[in-house]
Amino acid sequence: MTFTAILSALAEEQQGLLELLQQPQKINHAGRDFWQGSLYGQPVVLALSRIGKVAAATTATALIERFKVSRIVFTGVAGGLGAGVRVGDVVVATEFVQHDLDASPIFPRYEVPLYGQSRFACDAALSALLLAAGRASLQGLALSPTVTLHHGLIASGDRFVSGAQEAQALRESLQDQGHAVLAVEMEGAAVAQVCFDYGLPFAAVRTISDRADDQAHVDFPVFVRDVASLYAQAMVRQLLQSL
Ligand code: ADE
Repeated sequence: MTFTAILSALAEEQQGLLELLQQPQKINHAGRDFWQGSLYGQPVVLALSRIGKVAAATTATALIERFKVSRIVFTGVAGGLGAGVRVGDVVVATEFVQHDLDASPIFPRYEVPLYGQSRFACDAALSALLLAAGRASLQGLALSPTVTLHHGLIASGDRFVSGAQEAQALRESLQDQGHAVLAVEMEGAAVAQVCFDYGLPFAAVRTISDRADDQAHVDFPVFVRDVASLYAQAMVRQLLQSL
């Protein structure tokens, strides 16, 4: 059977999916709860990534090794970094970079040592389906016409970015090395690297909850509860129905 793993960053985002899961079976493994079942007719495993790169890497590895999933799809929220990436917009990732990885001068800034690369790509076919699911969901939710669906590079690191100057420094430093990032979050690059190691298709979508500025910590919790969980639910439905 081909299991699709749906990774959510936060419990609020997973809750709506859990309520729709058919024949739910909870399995505790590696200190985490994994939910196996069927969603929109597709065999799935739902899991929380937990927060930060190491926790997300453990969850992804468990999904692959213990649950034998065939693909991983991540839904969550992110801070907008790129110009024109606004709160309420949606970003489907093409690639991920770790903004807090720096083994220079031994390796170039941002390069993951011994991989010879800084960026890990998402699966093109799965990302195309996710992009189509995002487009259909945004239309279905009848959101304001200013909501934009972006497709590009996302940066991950073990830091909640909550200052305008910090966000600008991050954006410029990445840009100096040729990485034009749209958004920042705390898990995606780790899952992308694990999926690269195992040769598994990975795709990720992030709703922009804040601008990674001085307001970020205020905007974030409200947004997750009121908006992002609805987006995630709609996009997962569209995606699973298209598989
Ligand atoms: N996830 C959502 N907003 C974020 C931010 N500002 N920094 C890191 N991760 C985030």
